[in-house]
Amino acid sequence: MPHAMMADGSLHYEVYGTGLPVVLVHGFPLSAKLWESTIAGLSGQWKLIVPETRGLGRSTGAHHATMARYADDVADLLEHIGETRSVVFVGMSMGGYTAFEFFRRHRDRLRALVLVDTHPMPDTPQKAADRRATAQRVLKEGSGIVADAMMPLLFGPQAAPELLDEWQAIISGSPPEGVAAALRAMADRADSVPTLPMIDVPTQVLVGEHDAITTPDMSRAMHGAIRGARLDIILGSGHMLPVEQPKAFEDALSDFLSGLENA
Ligand code: MLT
Repeated sequence: MPHAMMADGSLHYEVYGTGLPVVLVHGFPLSAKLWESTIAGLSGQWKLIVPETRGLGRSTGAHHATMARYADDVADLLEHIGETRSVVFVGMSMGGYTAFEFFRRHRDRLRALVLVDTHPMPDTPQKAADRRATAQRVLKEGSGIVADAMMPLLFGPQAAPELLDEWQAIISGSPPEGVAAALRAMADRADSVPTLPMIDVPTQVLVGEHDAITTPDMSRAMHGAIRGARLDIILGSGHMLPVEQPKAFEDALSDFLSGLENA
């Protein structure tokens, strides 16, 4: 699978299919594996561009991680692969935080936004301090501490135990430098609430009904603040929508993308 060389590292990416370009950006501290089912289900209809965020998965360059840099990496990747059309940016959780930056920094490259299990608020000072403390611990103790803290919040009550085991192992295996850098980048991220009324591209908000990290109430509020946005609350899912309810997620996303093509 290809890598795009950056001045300070290399970005792993995958490209599937043809048609309307759709960028799938995973959450914290995940990888392109989040989109495995999405890729199988939707690459026959659209061009799916799947980067791994700097420092996570197979991408390097952790030390320069910020939300702005994550967004610029996506823009640089589009240039690298010669994709000159504007894209649909699908961002899950931390990928959604990146999507807000992408809107602010690269509006001209954006056809539409899909905000999956995410929200626009910055960290509270306490939350930011906790993230910085966790970042230091991760560098000493490894990513397992993040997996242990996140697992009880990530999945809805119906998720299969094997799915939980699989993701516990994946998160525990995430590169500690990238996990620490992402924690600091999230702690430092901008308030995107004032951005919401400025969003002038078609937007879909997707959330799992049992999401305990970015709740349906947060999604309803975000949806209400974005002009003309569409809201899909997916039953039987927690925060990990693309792997917990892949079919329902793909159907809702597909419906939104078809609407764009027909617009
Ligand atoms: C994510 O899923 O990307 C994170 O849980 C987001 C966060 O910690 O704010």
